[in-house]
Amino acid sequence: MDLELTDSQLGVRDTVRRFAAERLDQAGIETDRTHEFPAAIIKELGELGIMGIFVPETYGGAGMDHVSYALAIEELSVQCAATGVIVSAHSSLAMWPILGLGTEDQKRRFLPEMAAGRHLGCFALTEPQAGSDAAGQKTRALRDGDCYIINGTKNFITNGPQARVAIVFAMTDPAAGHRGISAFIVDTGTPGWQVVRNEDKMGIHGAHSAQLSFSDMRVPADCLLTQEGQGFKVAMKTLDGGRIGIAAQAVGIARAALEASLKYAGERRAFGAPIGSFQAIQWKLADMAVEVDAARLLTLQAAALKDAGAVHTTQSAMAKLFAAETAMKAATEAVQIHGGYGYTREFKVERFFRDAKITEIYEGTSEIQRLVIASHVLGER
Ligand code: CAA
Repeated sequence: MDLELTDSQLGVRDTVRRFAAERLDQAGIETDRTHEFPAAIIKELGELGIMGIFVPETYGGAGMDHVSYALAIEELSVQCAATGVIVSAHSSLAMWPILGLGTEDQKRRFLPEMAAGRHLGCFALTEPQAGSDAAGQKTRALRDGDCYIINGTKNFITNGPQARVAIVFAMTDPAAGHRGISAFIVDTGTPGWQVVRNEDKMGIHGAHSAQLSFSDMRVPADCLLTQEGQGFKVAMKTLDGGRIGIAAQAVGIARAALEASLKYAGERRAFGAPIGSFQAIQWKLADMAVEVDAARLLTLQAAALKDAGAVHTTQSAMAKLFAAETAMKAATEAVQIHGGYGYTREFKVERFFRDAKITEIYEGTSEIQRLVIASHVLGER
């Protein structure tokens, strides 16, 4: 594996780093305080080409690769983890399945507006009773002439209230278990689509996670993604890529925690010296630095495999698992280094701590990532 980033990958990283420092530093604080969706930022990211970063130019995207995508999500998440997940869910979970698995007509119909950031995407898999056990779908899709009629409820759907395009999973044949699930590309303007409520969450306040309900929602049959009964595989393949985005988001949060801690360790004095001169603090900083680098390398490895068209299920699970746990650890240590101040809203590390936690939960909990990895190392898959 080539560990050197190309000039264009470095260019994306530096552009997004500059944008994030200029536009997201304050916006990150504001969205956390107000819980408002950062619509103006998403519009600007669309104009910069970041909302369609790995979509080929033919479909209106920037034509870059998944390594660039991971670098961009890390940079956004250093300043605002909520923006990181808004872009990641839109890109990996909504645009990728259309790009990677859709028909030519579906790509031409949906991708250009999405890649420009004008139509946001979401991924509606999780249900009140189907989280880790994603195969336990209760949402039903019944064929009726040239349409499917979809009824059901979805939970915790990132971008649910703002999305114009949704990848929706529903049972077309409940007797067939996971082989009875189908995936649909849904225009959220379809009658019967309803946003029930936004969850009041611990962190990532600017990214809205909604409960959705579908009642007699008629979706044209040509919006079926792949074939009937293939929906579970669509979900799993999509999450293989989605987990790279969340790993990158977690690397960003961990790096932010490290950078804030380095700054504070140089400024804060105790016992007549900066606290960074004490070994107890130095060891924490050293461990954080090692883990941030290791998490990034795992993330870029998974992204490079995806770019090469290779199977990346295990590597993306490893990246997400390690990066999420690194983010949580780094944020915890950052609060500890900041002492009492770290527990107040005055310092950003308090937000990093709240934002980090979700990376161990969504797009497959750490326990689910360990199952995926174990099934690979045990030779079951
Ligand atoms: N790629 C392709 N196919 C795959 C696959 C993959 N990565 N993983 C599994 N499959 C296939 C298997 O080969 C098998 O195929 P057959 O039907 O031909 O036998 C089929 O899928 C079923 O596989 P399993 O028996 O392994 O499935 P399982 O029911 O035991 O589930 C699981 C496996 C890993 C636990 C899975 O359910 C899972 O990933 N759960 C977590 C769900 C999740 O990540 N949810 C997150 C929701 S999205 C979110 O958080 C979004 C947000 O808004 C931020």
